[in-house]
Amino acid sequence: MSWFNEGPRPGKVLASAIGSTAAAVLVLAGTAAPDAHAASGTLGTAAAGSGRYFGTAVAAGKLGDSVYSTLLDREFNMITPENEMKWDTTEPSRGNFNFGPADRIVNHASAHGQRMRGHTLVWHSQLPGWVSSITDANTLRSVMDKHIITEMNHYKGKVYAWDVVNEAFADGGSGQHRSSVFQNVLGNGFIEEAFRTARAADPAAKLCYNDYNIENWSDAKTQGVYNMVRDFKARGVPVDCVGFQSHFGAGGPPVGFRTTLSNFASLGVDVQVTELDIAQASPTAYANTVKACMNVARCTGMTVWGIRDSDSWRTGENPLLFDAAGSKKPAYEAVLSALGGQTANGTTPQVRDSSGGAGQHWTLR
Ligand code: XIL
Repeated sequence: MSWFNEGPRPGKVLASAIGSTAAAVLVLAGTAAPDAHAASGTLGTAAAGSGRYFGTAVAAGKLGDSVYSTLLDREFNMITPENEMKWDTTEPSRGNFNFGPADRIVNHASAHGQRMRGHTLVWHSQLPGWVSSITDANTLRSVMDKHIITEMNHYKGKVYAWDVVNEAFADGGSGQHRSSVFQNVLGNGFIEEAFRTARAADPAAKLCYNDYNIENWSDAKTQGVYNMVRDFKARGVPVDCVGFQSHFGAGGPPVGFRTTLSNFASLGVDVQVTELDIAQASPTAYANTVKACMNVARCTGMTVWGIRDSDSWRTGENPLLFDAAGSKKPAYEAVLSALGGQTANGTTPQVRDSSGGAGQHWTLR
């Protein structure tokens, strides 16, 4: 029963992933884990074989596209809304909450046994002007807290993990927080305030810090986030997980990505790859990323930032696992294999090199 009992993923998701009838038979019969090959033909089921999830970003407006939704429901068991839970959509004017677009995604997920990652509560980007123009600390604190509480309350019991704060650290060598209305008006304590508020709003949800360009261990930005998480754990500030966006250049992850994941995990948090895409989608670069996660026990799942290349925000870079027609690309087979799944020709080839690619980062901004 190791599949059912040891992984971080509830049995409900496995049930949907392998078919409720099959799952019911397994539960009733009390059998051991099924033959690994029998249920490992998709990304989600292959990841579930080691108690992990495999997710994707989803746009509500594409759920009616049958090629898209067929791939979504066949391959993925975790969903992150690409834009629909961001502040500019969920609270476009003060106190007026709009959860319609995200509800469509959450409803889809619950109908198909997929879990949700909430993305994101506090972020300097896709933030409406009425928030970024606040200059009074008491006002901003109460606005931020109300936003967190209202959004988390709306989705209570439906969101497995929240990106409570996204991208709060600066690029470059400072290792400090970036400039934002939250930082500038509330000061360094705004991240702690957000996490404490989030824990009170939904004590059952996992609370994550999420950022990009924190995959290379020696980078000042990585060190800054690491020191924050270490401090939070030492002082009892509630943080459960760190998301590594992993928007990579053609070389894939930095050589030390596994070390980074493992060092963060040693602080007592789960780690996840949350927005994976790789310029030109080299199979080796993808496999190296997946292997880095597979080699860290507390790396509990991976999410790609879109399904088909035509769905990607990185226009023209073809960074995803399916082409515009919805066909599997070579990187798909490499990922499936690295997850321990069975590939199209029935073999489970070894991934040769888990040491990482050239360490190029795709610079976001
Ligand atoms: C991106 C979306 O994919 C785009 O559709 C949108 O126009 C901009 O945001 N880091 C994040 C994600 O945390 O929310 C971003 O998503 C990509 C970078």
